[in-house]
Amino acid sequence: MQSPHNWLIYRVIHSELYPAFRTYAKGKLLDIGCGKKPYKSVLIGLVDQHVGVDHIDTLHNLNDVDIIGTAYSIPVDSNLFDTVICTDVIEHLEEPSDAIAEAHRVLKPGGIAIYTTPLFWHLHEQPRDFYRYTKFGLQYLFEKNGFQIVSIIPLGGFWITIGQETSYYLWGKRMRLFGKLNPVNFLIYLTVHFVQAVSYVLNKIDRTTIFTTEYLVIAKK
Ligand SMILES: C[S@@+](CC[C@H](N)C(=O)[O-])C[C@H]1O[C@@H](n2cnc3c(N)ncnc32)[C@H](O)[C@@H]1O
Repeated sequence: MQSPHNWLIYRVIHSELYPAFRTYAKGKLLDIGCGKKPYKSVLIGLVDQHVGVDHIDTLHNLNDVDIIGTAYSIPVDSNLFDTVICTDVIEHLEEPSDAIAEAHRVLKPGGIAIYTTPLFWHLHEQPRDFYRYTKFGLQYLFEKNGFQIVSIIPLGGFWITIGQETSYYLWGKRMRLFGKLNPVNFLIYLTVHFVQAVSYVLNKIDRTTIFTTEYLVIAKK
């Protein structure tokens, strides 16, 4: 969820993900591990249907979930969807290859899968946090399951990773006492905005992508 300490990574993700949606998302779209469907408002004008699937043990509420199922076994027919999206989910799956095979099954021939997943990110949604991915691992997993890679795009370089994680670290140090009125918390609030702003500018100058925070994968069935 977007908040003062993490606007940087969302800004970077959206700069690549939204154009990908505009280019590829169409028809019936399945959102695997949809959580709160954060891209609902962006997709609304692009697709005919936005169907969300998530598992019963999700840490998020089920308000936006249309189908209860796991990423390994989605209770729908084969060759049904024009588009699959799966954002920041496969790092939470014990068997990512099986889940990618399931996404391939539910997509129509020629359908497009759009995934995001981190290379560098702290532990989250514990204990269901299993893996981090390199672009070579992603290419292997998608091709192994019958997909053709359209592109694998790094989302941010060194400065985004370092700036975003520094900001998360500082945000975690806020004190419970007096909430926002606590001067330490106010200082942290100002600092996380400053760190993210400086990192954003530095990323424009140096985009060394071997340190990328995340990848965007676009793959075709
Ligand atoms: C980090 S959240 C991402 C949520 C959403 N896609 C987004 O971009 O904000 C990971 C999601 O994966 C879901 N998830 C974890 N394991 C799953 C599984 N085995 N099957 C389906 N969804 C799963 C979680 O419930 C959660 O909604």
